[in-house]
Amino acid sequence: MNEDITNISWRAPSNIALIKYWGKRAHQLPDNGSLSISLEKTSTTTTLSFKRKLRLEKNISFEYYFHGNRHLRFEKKTERVLNDLIPKMPFLTDYELVFQSENNFPHSAGIASSASSMSALALCLVSMEEIVNRKKLSKDPFFQRASFIARIGSGSASRSVYGGIVSWGNIPFIDPSSDDYATPYLIPKDSRFHQLMDIILIVSSKEKTVSSTSGHALMNDHPYREGRISQANSNMSKMTNAIRNDNYQLIGTIAENEALSLHALLMTSSPEGLLLKPNTLHIIEAIKSFREITGLDLFFTIDAGPNVHLIYFEDQRDSVLPFVQDTLTQFCEDGQWIDDKIGNGPELLTHEIEF
Ligand code: PMV
Repeated sequence: MNEDITNISWRAPSNIALIKYWGKRAHQLPDNGSLSISLEKTSTTTTLSFKRKLRLEKNISFEYYFHGNRHLRFEKKTERVLNDLIPKMPFLTDYELVFQSENNFPHSAGIASSASSMSALALCLVSMEEIVNRKKLSKDPFFQRASFIARIGSGSASRSVYGGIVSWGNIPFIDPSSDDYATPYLIPKDSRFHQLMDIILIVSSKEKTVSSTSGHALMNDHPYREGRISQANSNMSKMTNAIRNDNYQLIGTIAENEALSLHALLMTSSPEGLLLKPNTLHIIEAIKSFREITGLDLFFTIDAGPNVHLIYFEDQRDSVLPFVQDTLTQFCEDGQWIDDKIGNGPELLTHEIEF
């Protein structure tokens, strides 16, 4: 390497879990397995620029920009992650790094961006690692490494390095599966899952009152901790069977049970976390009645916040869009919603670098 600056850009998607990761052990290892859908539009693009330091020192030197402006809060979070990564990526202290990151969803939409941002960051770092080590990885080891690195930043980010349906966590009946990194959950070519759509209904764009970091920590002494782990394992087993058998009604029932369980766990934590809003409940009620009346295979899921994901299939779109416009947008902040769907995973935006 010479002193020239090298740039790498990756776009990485957000994901929404159908089986929720909630509770973790040391080094961001999950208490239970999880399963998510990687989204197509909702994503983060990160450019990493790096050049070799003139004087070698042991500390990390970097700056973090968000939508063009230096962002000190994200910089602090990134600093913690980069310091955790030094033992795994010792070359990091030999370079000056600049991260420039952008989300393509409204900044204040109340949508968790740690999955897409940490996964974009990890992909940039693994590309950098290839360049500085002059060693190109083939596709599978590259993404496995990126998932492993993303996990250090945010557990759910480990799943965002892949498209489609993704599992994370050591699950006896999913092979391969690991607590260390996520793996793509392969579904048959003709499965209806490839037509999965997600409408994100923005109930509140305010920052969450309980961060997922503190939420996970609340699980350590939670009275229902053991029960939650066995519920998640049982739901994972039922969900994978339902996917195998194209049982979409059951898939919806399990996903809704997972979303409500996540919030029930939050509400029964000490101190408690109440993240649902009255409009979240109005939307849930409306989705249930619409399903009952129409018999469509649609269902909801919710992240650790008040916003609702309405999951449905492309062939139902003509019925779902008027329902969203006429019935659901009244419960959304400023009528905001995001039209998304299952996506193909991250994208390298710069050219492959020859070395
Ligand atoms: O990755 P974290 O630490 O932000 O945790 C995410 C937890 C949930 O979003 C609530 C569930 C999940 O599996 O994505």
